[in-house]
Amino acid sequence: MSRRISITVDPEHGEATTLHTVPGADMLSKVLAEHGFPLNTRCGQRGLCHGCEVILQKGSLRIGNSEGAAPATLRACRARLHGPVTIAIPARSRIEHKPQVGETFEIAVPCAHDPLFPALGTRDTAFAVDIGTTTVVVLLVDLTNGEVLSRAGGFNEQIRFGDNVLTRIDAARTPEAIAAMQQAVVGETLAPLLLQACGRAGRDPSRIAGGTIAGNTTMLHLLAGEDPTSLGIAPFTAGFLAGKSITAEDIHLTAEGLDPETPIQLLPSIAAYIGADITAGVYATGMVFDEKPSLLVDIGTNGEIVLQNGGALTACATAAGPAFEGCGLRCGTRAREGAVSDLSITLDPFEVHVQTIGDIPPARATGICGSAYIDFLASARGCGLLGHAGRFDAAAWAALPEKSRLADDDERALSLAGPGSPRVSEVDVAVLLQAKAAIGAGIETLLETAGIRADEISRVYLAGGFGMHLNVANAITIGLLPGFTPEQVRVVGNTSLAGALLALIDRTTLAEMEALREQVRVIELNLDEDFEDRYVEHLMLP
Ligand code: FES
Repeated sequence: MSRRISITVDPEHGEATTLHTVPGADMLSKVLAEHGFPLNTRCGQRGLCHGCEVILQKGSLRIGNSEGAAPATLRACRARLHGPVTIAIPARSRIEHKPQVGETFEIAVPCAHDPLFPALGTRDTAFAVDIGTTTVVVLLVDLTNGEVLSRAGGFNEQIRFGDNVLTRIDAARTPEAIAAMQQAVVGETLAPLLLQACGRAGRDPSRIAGGTIAGNTTMLHLLAGEDPTSLGIAPFTAGFLAGKSITAEDIHLTAEGLDPETPIQLLPSIAAYIGADITAGVYATGMVFDEKPSLLVDIGTNGEIVLQNGGALTACATAAGPAFEGCGLRCGTRAREGAVSDLSITLDPFEVHVQTIGDIPPARATGICGSAYIDFLASARGCGLLGHAGRFDAAAWAALPEKSRLADDDERALSLAGPGSPRVSEVDVAVLLQAKAAIGAGIETLLETAGIRADEISRVYLAGGFGMHLNVANAITIGLLPGFTPEQVRVVGNTSLAGALLALIDRTTLAEMEALREQVRVIELNLDEDFEDRYVEHLMLP
């Protein structure tokens, strides 16, 4: 027997549509999808999100053994039809953006097109930002369709106050210092990047309706002009962790044409050292919806690690330093045109194969980015040029062609493509090993605390500014991801930015991020007896 089911889609703007189906057999979400109304089933129809909610206006639906009667808001992936109903599908439940792999990040969850700041008149543009300790990236987005129009990125000018969050907190001792640091990140970094992104997209700043910003907890405090001192001393409390709604004027963000009242949403943070960049990453990777244990490893100036096991989230942060972001190294750079992005070395015969972004000749390369430093460690160790402790092997060094060997002040370095080209020194290697040891030891500590082995992890999401082209096998070889196989690892890029974008184009994201941050248990690595020993072990190259 067939019954009539009327489905009202967007009753404010469109005609009601009537579908027909057999009652009982399938979940409402499946029936709707089959009839051209796919819902935002981002948790895989497991009842863990709110993406499939529909508004039941007439009739009733079977939910397990009970009944949900109109009027009610119900999850369509939990509801079976057993009679005629009238439902409305809110904009937030309509899937408009599929999971996507962009140039610099991957978004694993689908989302609706229901912007946090809806397009109003000529205000049809918004921005999503990742404020990193080392780098800042701005995306300009068209609010009418959620498309990214342009992007701009650069170093965080606040870097002159220190290259990591602890030195920045220490520098923020007086109201004047806090104001100077806010000016560095807003006036000298964000404003020019926003103008650059607007220029590239051909959109005037007067068209901006709002923006979302992700970043670590210290960066968000300094952006908001709040005193970060309590983040630097035990018990490491934050001035604010929940998402914060501010305006451009509140943070002195000015650009010609930009309305001072433009709303800006700071994303919610988890703890003093697990910031909104990680909340964004946990959300954008969809790891909370993974059925098996999964791990997020976000390598920025800090290395944050989040384990999902049976839906429970545990996190820790390590002071990795900005090496993999190309900072603090002789020739380090961000991943940008002219930078060495991949390399490999052989000794017999001696050859250095170098790949640059934009195919610039290696001799004219502008620097070396994080992914290439990881290649260097793996390849130089693999061919015997580097020893276990990260020093050049004496015999291999002596056999190198003279133009490739550099030695200043007892610091030995390998020139990648002869005189004037980027080089990697032993001091660089030592800095890189400290960063990889902090992350490797952090991962092992988190897994051991949870009683999980690396081979039990179904997916390792490797996030970070080093881009999407990292050689995963090399990252494993050097011990950055200890005990994993390449098949387990997925490089997901800048998930902080991905989360800021999701929060901008789908307003339900923010509420789910707020709920998510409360679920995370934070482990303090400095209180773990074995962390130090593991760190020292990981200072070596396998
Ligand atoms: S898809 Fe129904 S709850 Fe997530």
